[in-house]
Amino acid sequence: MSKSRSILLLNGPNLNLLGQREPHIYGSETLAIHVSNAQSAAKDLGFEIVAMQSNSSSDLVEAIHAARGVHSAIVINPGAFTHYAWSIHDALSAFDGPVVELHLSNPQKRESWRHTSVVAPVAIGTISGFGASGYGLAIRAVASHLS
Ligand code: DQA
Repeated sequence: MSKSRSILLLNGPNLNLLGQREPHIYGSETLAIHVSNAQSAAKDLGFEIVAMQSNSSSDLVEAIHAARGVHSAIVINPGAFTHYAWSIHDALSAFDGPVVELHLSNPQKRESWRHTSVVAPVAIGTISGFGASGYGLAIRAVASHLS
């Protein structure tokens, strides 16, 4: 698959617990289900997804560095790193393609510390608050941007 048809899907801390973690906020779907939804949306549009989850910001920074020249876009649900991880902001800033920020919940409707995103300034846009539909929506949004 060429660079132009490949999207990196990154998931940050605690998202490995989706399905068990606060289902009243994040829903009952596991991360594997969200990734599968993203893969289906990508396949319909002729894209491929490479997905990764880590609880460590350094793993995510390394993955973003490795994406340069390999993937055409990054969709990232940074979890709580959204709100303070400037190292992820800087790595995304150095990426040579569009970035979409993704959240299952709508952080703007929640605690005030979630209202700041250090990722938003380096993203073309944000998909948030659409729960289980969000991963597919984010892939459609970035694929449309790339087309
Ligand atoms: C989240 C929102 C973040 O505020 C939170 O820390 C998460 C998940 C979401 O998908 O709604 O871990 O990114």
